[in-house]
Amino acid sequence: MISRSTVTHSAIWQSLQQHHHDIQQQHMRDWFHQDPHRFERFNVSAAGLQLDYSKNRITEHTMTLLLQWANERLLPQQIESLFIGDPVNRSEKRPALHTALRNFGEREVIVDGINIMPEVRDTVRRMESFCWKIRRNQWRGYSNRPFTDVVSIGIGGSFLGPKLASSALKPFWDSRLNIHYLANIDGSHITEILKRLDPATTLFIIQSKSFGTQETLKNATACRQWFLDNGGDEDDLHKHFTAVSSNVEAAKAFGIAEDNIFPMWDWVGGRYSLWSAIGLPLALAVGIDNFRELLRGAYDMDEHFRTAPLGQNMPVIMALLGIWYVNFFNINSHAILPYDHYLRSLPAYLQQLDMESNGKSMTADGYPVDYHTGPIIWGGVGTNGQHAFHQLLHQGTHFSPCDFILPMCSHNPIDNFHAMLVSNCLSQSQALLQGKSEQEALDELIAAGMNKAEAVVLAPQKVIPGNRPSNTLYFPKTTPHSIGALIALYEHKVAAQGMLWGINSFDQWGVELGKQLGDRVLRSLQGETVANDVDGSTNGLIRAFQQMQNSL
Ligand code: F6P
Repeated sequence: MISRSTVTHSAIWQSLQQHHHDIQQQHMRDWFHQDPHRFERFNVSAAGLQLDYSKNRITEHTMTLLLQWANERLLPQQIESLFIGDPVNRSEKRPALHTALRNFGEREVIVDGINIMPEVRDTVRRMESFCWKIRRNQWRGYSNRPFTDVVSIGIGGSFLGPKLASSALKPFWDSRLNIHYLANIDGSHITEILKRLDPATTLFIIQSKSFGTQETLKNATACRQWFLDNGGDEDDLHKHFTAVSSNVEAAKAFGIAEDNIFPMWDWVGGRYSLWSAIGLPLALAVGIDNFRELLRGAYDMDEHFRTAPLGQNMPVIMALLGIWYVNFFNINSHAILPYDHYLRSLPAYLQQLDMESNGKSMTADGYPVDYHTGPIIWGGVGTNGQHAFHQLLHQGTHFSPCDFILPMCSHNPIDNFHAMLVSNCLSQSQALLQGKSEQEALDELIAAGMNKAEAVVLAPQKVIPGNRPSNTLYFPKTTPHSIGALIALYEHKVAAQGMLWGINSFDQWGVELGKQLGDRVLRSLQGETVANDVDGSTNGLIRAFQQMQNSL
């Protein structure tokens, strides 16, 4: 059992604090001058991905201390606990066995005395048969025409993973099927999706582990009504509505035929569920072979995470670097910067993965933490961000470590687009590293013809401190395998951080209060008199809603 005091109250932690104090004024630019092999020294590969972490505020000694601390925190044992199905999600008394969903090895995985692997593999075979029937037009809509559109209805982990992977793998899509994702509870979103669709050729997949999520049930009910109002019949519902859920009874009560319900299990967390039947819309888009390749990429990363020594373990290194900045540099954010149009959904996906997992203030043992935990994850696709928020990255008073994500080859190698894109990515991390001194700025201005007096005034504005850390994650191309490995890498980075911080990365109690209050606010908005212990601001906003609704 790990208690709060072992996280920060250790001799190694004190050494790290001292070491931070010793190196914080040093500039990475000098370290690169002193060490021509820094790139090779701080570089690691795993499952076809390569991580250059040389542009971090670290020395060999930093890594030695961080790794010692990770060992002291029993990280290898905690990783093993995750894989063998110990109830690491302690507040919900469950294991977190998303790794079983992509277990290509011989290993049995036991939950409550039963090997779950046969059921996992059986589900993939069911997905295969379903995909085959839809993609080969064996399963058709009520008018006997093949499906043209799939609407995936789900939110959070039942949305972000499939959405990310299906946009990442767009080059692998079967062009005959359009996949739409309906998540938000917003009349405008559902209207915009449905208005382009024909009920006779539309398949719905209701994705909800709990089958109790307000947004998903509202959207699903509205889609069913739309189907019935626009030509579909009650008897046709089973041809058009499927579900993925661990709550089979609720799915049946909603009207989904039992044969159309794909299973989910308690031991898979929502934000870790892409690898289960929640990946069905993706499998429909890219085919089951590509879906299996995605699982294979994740499995290769799992094996790496499980077996590589900590010092060559990519997720562990990324976890430790994150902790170095959060707990020693007091940095509270982390930017995700994919230089690939197909990976534009990655920041949103990682926001849920990281912030819902590690946005915690209590240890798993129930002690309030006395150190910071998960950072704010944000970001956006390059180069768009360069013309927007990168200004703060370069000259802001805060610094935010960045992950540059870079496929070296494009699926669309037209002209020199990709070289230009890559040059932007590399020069951004270079600029963050090296910065620009006042003297350099001054020399540049004078060389450009500005008179000295004006140049002296302007030069300080152009100073860029540099010494701002970044990782560059690079790989040959965005493929099912590389995307599987990439997502699993971040899953494990986040899990390793949770283990090191002593928090439970697999529950999410913080989201519950908003849901509870939401019910009561909804009743008030709709005119019901509800016991009035609501704050003045919320009451005022409820009145404003009612007045503005009535005034239009
Ligand atoms: O409210 C948060 C959450 O529980 C997420 O963790 C989950 O991914 C999402 O809601 C959707 O839940 P479900 O799949 O049960 O509809």
